[in-house]
Amino acid sequence: MRVPTGIPKFDEALEGGLPERASILLIGIPGAGKTTFCNQFIYEGLKNGEGAIYITLNAAPDEVINNMKSFGWDVSGKPLRFIDAYSWQMGKEEGKDVVNPANLTNFTIAITKALTEMKNQNVRRVVVDSISTMFLFVPKDLCLRFISMLSARLKGVGITELITVEEGMHTPDVITALNSLTDGTIYFSMEGDKRTIKINRMKETKTLPVNLNFKISEKGIEITP
Ligand SMILES: Nc1ncnc2c1ncn2[C@@H]1O[C@H](COP(=O)(O)OP(=O)(O)OP(=O)(O)O)[C@@H](O)[C@H]1O
Ligand SMILES: [Mg+2]
Repeated sequence: MRVPTGIPKFDEALEGGLPERASILLIGIPGAGKTTFCNQFIYEGLKNGEGAIYITLNAAPDEVINNMKSFGWDVSGKPLRFIDAYSWQMGKEEGKDVVNPANLTNFTIAITKALTEMKNQNVRRVVVDSISTMFLFVPKDLCLRFISMLSARLKGVGITELITVEEGMHTPDVITALNSLTDGTIYFSMEGDKRTIKINRMKETKTLPVNLNFKISEKGIEITP
């Protein structure tokens, strides 16, 4: 079974979409399109009656919602549950749905709570945007352990997870570890106005490598010739 992203030619190139029960890294420089891809992926699930969990470390939930709205992806009334690890950085107190990204115990508790609350909402998709922010607060070994445990946990309940990583923020050993802890990597690159997606590693996928050009339009990511 595949999990469609809602990006037509991308899904065709990947045998219908991303693999089920997988954790997938999205690597690229700032502005490369990682967040847009995540948001499009989440909306595709919501549109089809699934629930979704969005772990945000780089923007407050209302910013994410507004960003989605700017592409015509209206999530109001849809079963989208946020775990907000951004607002604490802005001085908001830890509490309902706001977590301190440095407190991995509370972070784990918040994820458990979200999964429990969403138990009957058919959650198939989770986004973590961006994990690079966690590395600013937590020693790398602990970050990697957290990512490993989270991925195992989500895969155990049939979820496909996207984890974004800022290219250039990590040492090569961290990138190697992130690759080894996950099931696939999507590279986003941007040179001038030429944007490309490259996939060399993706579990349960025979059609590799995948190389696609794309643009970001008012409809989101669109694959171009
Ligand atoms: N409504 C829109 N219509 C067209 N293009 C847009 C729109 N909103 C954003 N973009 C384009 O998308 C790019 C941002 O992409 P995105 O936020 O997905 O990048 P990112 O890889 O997540 O970057 P970062 O690492 O900074 O979070 C912008 O540079 C802009 O060119
Ligand atoms: Mg982003």
